[in-house]
Amino acid sequence: MQLQEILYSQGFGTRRVCAGLVQQGHVTVGGEPVTDASRDFDPQGLAFTVGGVPWSYHELAYLMLNKPAGTECSQKPSTYPSIYTLLPAPLRQRPQKGAVQGVQAVGRLDQDTTGLLLLTDDGQFIHRMNSPRHHVPKVYEVGTKHPVDEKQVARLLEGVVLDDDPKPVRAAACEKTGECALRLTLTEGKYHQVKRMLAAVSNRVETLHRSRIGDLVLPADMSPGQWRWLSQADLDALKPVKAPAPVKAAAPETQ
Ligand code: URA
Repeated sequence: MQLQEILYSQGFGTRRVCAGLVQQGHVTVGGEPVTDASRDFDPQGLAFTVGGVPWSYHELAYLMLNKPAGTECSQKPSTYPSIYTLLPAPLRQRPQKGAVQGVQAVGRLDQDTTGLLLLTDDGQFIHRMNSPRHHVPKVYEVGTKHPVDEKQVARLLEGVVLDDDPKPVRAAACEKTGECALRLTLTEGKYHQVKRMLAAVSNRVETLHRSRIGDLVLPADMSPGQWRWLSQADLDALKPVKAPAPVKAAAPETQ
């Protein structure tokens, strides 16, 4: 693939801008400056620098971000800065079918939720991960306003009814981890699900952190706001588990 085409595919600007970057000596490959924009390289695993910044070729981009509090998972945020401002420009400008598309968050976290967020420009991956049939467990560390009691844990495991659906939702796993803390595992991703489930058992979420998706754990050395590429092992860790048994609909209340 021509070097200008490689840069274009990775989000470094229009084909013309990319050719200019090479011709003006801003690009090195394997440590050597390259000024011929049409020189061919095998893109697989290619390491290069643009303006001194190291980069590596990825046909599709899969990333994890440690989402900080006070950021919105929206391209057009209403109140807080967008998570997309935490990513370098090429990741936000990767082209798809000729248009600037960039990576997209796989599902959303609330502005005050922290932790593991996936991003990609692979539409099929987003679709698969968000599909209700695709049961990838997500683990949340929850800080609560009121002390957690065993009855609340039991109810979260049995299933609680939220206001938009008569079918109960239940935690795939739930354990008390402190006086006002619990670890909750969900296999669905309903709007504000953790907050609404805790409200349904008469408690309240004070802090919320996603620590894990499938077998992929947010690395302890990633500080809030940091991102990194997912490896093949990371992607393998995101495989779904068998669907949990359905929860019976709640019986109507009798007087
Ligand atoms: N559940 C919530 O209530 N908020 C999140 O951000 C994620 C899950």
